[in-house]
Amino acid sequence: MRMMTRLEEARSLDPVSDRLQAAVQAVARPRLLRDLLHGTWLGHSLHPVLVQLPVGSFVSAAVLDLLPGRRRAATTLIAVGTAAVAPAVAAGLLDWSQLTRDRRRVGLVHAGANAVATGLYAASLFARLRGRTARGKALGFAGLSVAGLGAYLGGHLSYALSAGVNQAAPEIARIPQEWTPVGSLASLPDGSPAVRTVADVSVLVYRRGDRVSALIERCGHETGPLGKGEVTGSGADACVVCPWHGSVFRLADGAVVHGPAASDQPVLRARVRDGMVELCRP
Ligand code: FES
Repeated sequence: MRMMTRLEEARSLDPVSDRLQAAVQAVARPRLLRDLLHGTWLGHSLHPVLVQLPVGSFVSAAVLDLLPGRRRAATTLIAVGTAAVAPAVAAGLLDWSQLTRDRRRVGLVHAGANAVATGLYAASLFARLRGRTARGKALGFAGLSVAGLGAYLGGHLSYALSAGVNQAAPEIARIPQEWTPVGSLASLPDGSPAVRTVADVSVLVYRRGDRVSALIERCGHETGPLGKGEVTGSGADACVVCPWHGSVFRLADGAVVHGPAASDQPVLRARVRDGMVELCRP
């Protein structure tokens, strides 16, 4: 863990990290491509889904390498795994490019380890195709070892540093299940969002005539302040654009319209009683 802390603080990685970040964001400009790779259509990040194919193929090939007479099957799996790396890298790089600097440092080494592992697997495949099975197996096991380091760093990014998780989910759990008044309906602007607080949680409240919807104000992507975001569209289709990385959420129901967020923004139940707006946890 001390090594992980030192890695998170390794400013020497920043020049490379910043240049790579700029390159990734310059290449992945089309919004459709970004939404596809971020997993906005899926409901969570696409990268961990895509890594299943190379990881599963490489681990299975290692098992077959320990058994007699499985040379061709192991070679096929390594070819499949090596070919499946590219889409996983594309999705991972795009997610990585939106992270804070400390997490990008860890992500950079995670990507570097996986690049080395992929190189070892490509060399393993080349050796196997040339009939050098023993050399191919050795390179494969070396690749698996380095990929294990990459997987550890990826796990640290997700589970210790909360990269790629829905940052708004803990907020909705803090909202009381009892109805809580947040002010009169008349005090809310019609057609533009307002920010209120419920149990110390910042909530975005949106009024359309007599109808009110409410969502967690901290963006689920990286906790950006949606209350400071620009509103686009009107009525039921009005959306708020996160000021940090441009995720777009529909105000009526919190649905994510564009990433990098991959999850809907959590919504609260809302009602109007005697002219007062009340909110509670769904
Ligand atoms: S914080 Fe990244 S899009 Fe909102």
